[in-house]
Amino acid sequence: MKENTFLRSFKLVPEVHRPFFFASMVAMVGTGVRMIGPQLISRGIDNGVMQYDYQYLLVQCLFYFLTLVVLYFVTSKALLSIGLVGESYVKSIREKLFRHMSSLDINYFEKNKTGVLVARMTSDMQSLNEFAREGASSILTSLLTIFGATIAVFLVDVQLSLLSFLILPLLGIATKIFRNHADKTYWSVREWIGQVLSSLQEGISGVRIIQAYADESKQLKRFKEVNNEHLKANMQSAKNIAIYFPFLEITRVTSIAVVIWFAAARIEQGTLTVGELVALLFYLNYFFDPLIQLSFNYDLLRSAGSSMKKVFSILDEEPVLSKTGTLSPKLDSNSVIKFENVEFSYGRETVLHDVSFSIDRGEKIAIVGETGAGKSTIAKLILRFYLPNKGDVKFYGESSKDISQKWARKNIAYVPQESFLFRGSIRDNLIYSNPEKIDLKSELENIGLIDWFERYEDGLEQDVGERGANVSAGERQFIALLRAVLARRQIIVFDEATANLDIESESSILDATDTLLDYQTSVVIAHRLETILNAEKILVMSEGKLVGFDNHETLLANNEIYQQLFSAWNLVN
Ligand SMILES: Nc1ncnc2c1ncn2[C@@H]1O[C@H](COP(=O)(O)OP(=O)(O)OP(=O)(O)O)[C@@H](O)[C@H]1O
Ligand SMILES: [Mg+2]
Repeated sequence: MKENTFLRSFKLVPEVHRPFFFASMVAMVGTGVRMIGPQLISRGIDNGVMQYDYQYLLVQCLFYFLTLVVLYFVTSKALLSIGLVGESYVKSIREKLFRHMSSLDINYFEKNKTGVLVARMTSDMQSLNEFAREGASSILTSLLTIFGATIAVFLVDVQLSLLSFLILPLLGIATKIFRNHADKTYWSVREWIGQVLSSLQEGISGVRIIQAYADESKQLKRFKEVNNEHLKANMQSAKNIAIYFPFLEITRVTSIAVVIWFAAARIEQGTLTVGELVALLFYLNYFFDPLIQLSFNYDLLRSAGSSMKKVFSILDEEPVLSKTGTLSPKLDSNSVIKFENVEFSYGRETVLHDVSFSIDRGEKIAIVGETGAGKSTIAKLILRFYLPNKGDVKFYGESSKDISQKWARKNIAYVPQESFLFRGSIRDNLIYSNPEKIDLKSELENIGLIDWFERYEDGLEQDVGERGANVSAGERQFIALLRAVLARRQIIVFDEATANLDIESESSILDATDTLLDYQTSVVIAHRLETILNAEKILVMSEGKLVGFDNHETLLANNEIYQQLFSAWNLVN
């Protein structure tokens, strides 16, 4: 993890700063206590073993045992504190990410694949979690131990320490080479994990189509290919480790051999004791062991670092629409929605050209037009999912640039082209907009729809399954529609919201809308003649242009495009 990523992610969660410093202090104490051990051994050898003073030796042993007891408590406290810091860190990041994602503009979700965003919340969080649980404490204690051991060897004997560290530049070069290779393979391992996951996901969510086309073997072949690449990347990573670790072992043994070789002469001269030599060997091990441990943890560190970078790429995404605009227009103006010379494009191509129209309070408007004409785009502009590139969309006389996102969400209801239900009961889904205030039973009785739900064994408590998978497409749409109606917003937008309903269900719910919400301004995108005939005015779109806006009779008499659409509907109806 680069320093800036690390620092930035640390700064991001201020609530872990204190516990982190506490944990580091405890770990530091632990390292200090650990460094005492070899000193006691050294003294025990020089003054106890060599002098045959067993009482002295026993005292040193007891001291050593005491340090071990202290070390036990300090280490477990340190591990626990670091673990806690890590876990609360990941929890906080996950929450921040979720909150931020929910605030992003709709077009962010249209540009990015759901699978990838979910991966950010799952696999990247998992890698942060692994790092927090295993990596962080190990890396912190390893670094502290290396630092402590370096000071300790120099305290014992400067000359021998310098000699033993002569090998370090070589170790540094080898580590650099290993790191470069590891980084490369690490990326490809991650890359292929993503591919394996997305191939798996496609295989599961597309299972109906795959089985219907008897495509299992082809799908399996594709999966095998991706899985093989993943194996190859992992093998490369194993190869790197297989070359580097034995090398670490060689440097450790070599530096110990060098120390022993020169120590022999120094002991003969009387400038070094046997005890000091033993202490040196202990400290050298304290130096090399965590180094090996660090290399093991390198993968966890890299993985957490790049996950963090990916998380930042989402956190850096600015929600434009929810930030701009603070106005809450008063609902007293008669002109509810007004498009003024609106031009709009999702990307390069302009999909709405110079569209102008005005909708008054309480009007029921239908939008018609061929596939891809721009009907849903108009709906999305009314919902303030986007702002126009040119011209203006006004709500109660105020520009959509100036009005607050919150106002829009509170005053405009929407039934999208693909109806979506949340996991839970029908009741949960119906009262979604205002669980405290809606008295569902009496509302449904008022609008005469209570019987509609008797078809289910558990009535309103019937579970709809994930995304509403346990009810039919039409039923799903009916519930989604009613949910929007019960939200009682000033403006309601239906995008082909009755396409899956039979005529009877459609008219019963449209009647319900009328009873409940006669004050409401509604915009309905529809293909079916009945729905269109119900509307007071019809907006005719063709190739992104507004080509007519009037009542049915006038349009039928004068508008060529409307006449064509009408004769097509007559054929199917
Ligand atoms: N998110 C998007 N990104 C890029 N282009 C888009 C996007 N959504 C729609 N378009 C394009 O904008 C144009 C208008 O699309 P829109 O969804 O408004 O059509 P529509 O009239 O609702 O069609 P349909 O009857 O099929 O629902 C189309 O050419 C479409 O390809
Ligand atoms: Mg559409």
